[in-house]
Amino acid sequence: MRKKVIAGNWKMNMLPNETIEYIEKFSKLVENSDNEVILCVPYIDLFYCLLNCQGTNIKVGAQNVHFEEKGAYTGEVSAKMLKSIGVEYVIIGHSERRQYFGETDESVNKKVKAALENGLKPIICVGESLEQREQGLTENIIRNQTKLALEGISKEQMSNIIIAYEPIWAIGTGKTATSEDANNSIKAIRDEVSKVYDKEVAENTIIQYGGSVKSSNAKELFETSDIDGGLVGGASLVPEEFAKIVNYNK
Ligand code: 13P
Repeated sequence: MRKKVIAGNWKMNMLPNETIEYIEKFSKLVENSDNEVILCVPYIDLFYCLLNCQGTNIKVGAQNVHFEEKGAYTGEVSAKMLKSIGVEYVIIGHSERRQYFGETDESVNKKVKAALENGLKPIICVGESLEQREQGLTENIIRNQTKLALEGISKEQMSNIIIAYEPIWAIGTGKTATSEDANNSIKAIRDEVSKVYDKEVAENTIIQYGGSVKSSNAKELFETSDIDGGLVGGASLVPEEFAKIVNYNK
């Protein structure tokens, strides 16, 4: 049985003092959860988040990473740097990075490799745009993004990878994919993982859904056959609301 993994993606929100206040409230609300809970926070908040999550069941992730280990890359942060302060997860290839910051399938793959080599667990995002969906290309796009992100990644390394299916048209729009639709897309991604590796690897890979997840729809989404939790944007900014999502099965 795969566990449920529920991650918050704060995107470019929350100051360090807000981070500390958030964790104080949130950690008490999720301490009895059976689900894995992760907060992916801005670089500036990471250290505060790590300090304040010590002794709790909350894991900490970053939202991006550079693929080189060090050097003349002004403004970038390496996987080794993240690991050195105790970060455990990193979101890679979020659609906002693909859309606004020139992230490509190739850079996603390089970042996944760098993360794994440095002991970080990637949360790889894939998902189609509205236009691609309307053209009937959804399955094609998400299979291809999955395959390219995993190029050169060994079967053994797959146990440290999470995939998040985030249809772009559902992000921040209030429009959620129906649980059936999201489940079917995730089945296609799982089938692609099975083609690249084998059925056992596919059955053990955690694949989340992201896109307007809230406490009112979390249960329906997470109780489908293939959705293994969520990557939550807006609703993760409010500790009480995000805790309800994490505790959807209570
Ligand atoms: P929303 O939950 O705000 O739609 O964002 C989803 C997302 O992009 C998480 O990475």
